[in-house]
Amino acid sequence: MSHSENPDGSPSVAPEVGSSDQYTQWGRFRSVLRKGWRRFTGPSNRKIKKLYEEHDYLEAYARHTDIRVHRDPHAAIGANWYEHGQHQLSFLVEHGLKPEHRLLDFGCGCLRAGRYFMRYLQPGHYTGVDISESVLEFGRELIRENGLEDHKPNLIHNADRSLDFSCCKGATFDRIQAYSVFTHLDHNHIAEFFSHLDSVLRPGGVFFFSYNDSDDSCQTGLKDFRHPFSFFEELAQKHGFEIQEMSKAFKDPGTQNFARVQRNTETPFPAL
Ligand SMILES: C[S@@+](CC[C@H](N)C(=O)[O-])C[C@H]1O[C@@H](n2cnc3c(N)ncnc32)[C@H](O)[C@@H]1O
Repeated sequence: MSHSENPDGSPSVAPEVGSSDQYTQWGRFRSVLRKGWRRFTGPSNRKIKKLYEEHDYLEAYARHTDIRVHRDPHAAIGANWYEHGQHQLSFLVEHGLKPEHRLLDFGCGCLRAGRYFMRYLQPGHYTGVDISESVLEFGRELIRENGLEDHKPNLIHNADRSLDFSCCKGATFDRIQAYSVFTHLDHNHIAEFFSHLDSVLRPGGVFFFSYNDSDDSCQTGLKDFRHPFSFFEELAQKHGFEIQEMSKAFKDPGTQNFARVQRNTETPFPAL
C-alpha cells in the first residue's frame, strides 16, 4: 500500500508512477478487496479473545495491534487518519509547541499525528515510541514513501512494554503526548507512567493526554478502558504535578477527553 501524501499531509490525488493507484476508482476497489480478504483470512474474534486470555495484557494488546495493522493500518489506531493527525498538531502548536521543542509521542501508532509533528519540528526533535513493531514498520515505510527522512524522526520500539520510559535511554522532552493511549491502559499502567513522568519531562515541559471519562475506572472492552478525571488528578497531585482538564478547548474530532499536566512548581497554566 502507498502512503504517499502532499507536503501538507493530504493524500496525493494523482497516482504516482510505480506506486499504488489507490485514489483512482480501480485502486479504491482493489483496496476494499484487499482489506476484505485480510479480514476474511485474519484470525477470528475467538482467537483474538484467546490472545488476551493467554498473555499478559500489554503483550496481547501489542499482538492484537499487529493484526489490526495488517488488516488496515489507518483504522488500526483509530479513525480520521487525515483530520485527526492535523488536529493533534494544531492543538499542541496553539498551546505552546515550538519547532525547537523535543516531543515524545508516547504510543505513536502508525504516525497518524507523528508525520505532521516531524514536518513541524526541527530535524531529530520528534520521538515516537510504541509497543507494536508493526505500527513502527508501517511508520518507517510511510516516512520513506513521503520523503520525510530529512526530518530524522526517532522511532523506538518499547520492546519490554514498560511504562517507565527506559526505552528512551535518558532522553528528556519539552512536550510529551499520549493520544488515545490511556484509553487502552488500566489504572496500574497509568499510575506507573505518572510515577516516572518527572524523569523525562524537562523543566517547563508539558504533558498532554486524552482519556475516556467515566464515574469509575473500568474496562469496557478487550482493550478499552475509561477513567474519571479525579483519578488523573490524584496521580498528578501524588507526583507533584498540576493538571488541567481541557476537553472543551481540544474539541476532539473523535470523542475523547483531553488534559494537560506540568510540574506544580512552574508558572500556573493560564485560565482557559
Ligand atoms: C489507539 S493507538 C493511538 C496511536 C496514536 N497516538 C494516534 O493518535 O494515532 C494507541 C497506541 O498506543 C500504543 N501503546 C499502548 N501501550 C503502550 C506502551 N506501554 N508503550 C508504548 N506504546 C504503547 C499501542 O501499541 C498503539 O499503537
